[in-house]
Amino acid sequence: MMEADAIAIETVTAAAVREAVPALARVLADCVANGASLGFMHWNTRADYERFWEGVAADVEAGRTVLFAARRDGEIVGTAQLHLIGKPNQPHRAEIAKVLVHSTARRQGLGETLMGAAEAAARAAGRTLLVLDTDADSAARRLYRRLGWTEVGTIPRFALMPDGADCASTFFYKALD
Ligand SMILES: CC(C)(COP(=O)(O)OP(=O)(O)OC[C@H]1O[C@@H](n2cnc3c(N)ncnc32)[C@H](O)[C@@H]1OP(=O)(O)O)[C@@H](O)C(=O)NCCC(=O)NCCS
Repeated sequence: MMEADAIAIETVTAAAVREAVPALARVLADCVANGASLGFMHWNTRADYERFWEGVAADVEAGRTVLFAARRDGEIVGTAQLHLIGKPNQPHRAEIAKVLVHSTARRQGLGETLMGAAEAAARAAGRTLLVLDTDADSAARRLYRRLGWTEVGTIPRFALMPDGADCASTFFYKALD
């Protein structure tokens, strides 16, 4: 566990992932309520978010996903995922997904620290190529550029914002040596 002030970043184990579901759903609900395009609309409910995290929990239990949680004073306020691609012809590749920091905990370096944890886990798993995508207008795009990711391009109208507006997505990769 890495600690800075009262913040701790942890890898959520298969044994602990189910009990983290309600807290992870709270963080996701907060991000969607604050306008982030994360696969959900404004009308989605807490039950939808919990169902999403139950699916992630199954992936963690199956060893397909490495899940990170950032806790502030013990409470989960941020998260990120590393998806270990299972295709036989892509044993070197992984994807980073759902990098989320609660609106009350942003701009304190948590996003960067979560990305660092995901990158370290990718290296430990022998993955040398990382891919991700994000809302073209999000703070995440600046963060990924700053962290040395290469921007590949932007696809207009890729998804919808929670309020139904069009959302362009920007795709990135990072090669690890
Ligand atoms: C994107 C997101 C994860 C960033 O989380 P964060 O914890 O705020 O990230 P960081 O603090 O590491 O960096 C963000 C900014 O804070 C700044 N920052 C970091 N520490 C700081 C500090 N102590 N004081 C002031 N600013 C600081 C960074 O310079 C960075 O600025 P920039 O965006 O202008 O480059 C967060 O905004 C979020 O959850 N957004 C909604 C969900 C989303 O869109 N996720 C990505 C899609 S998968």
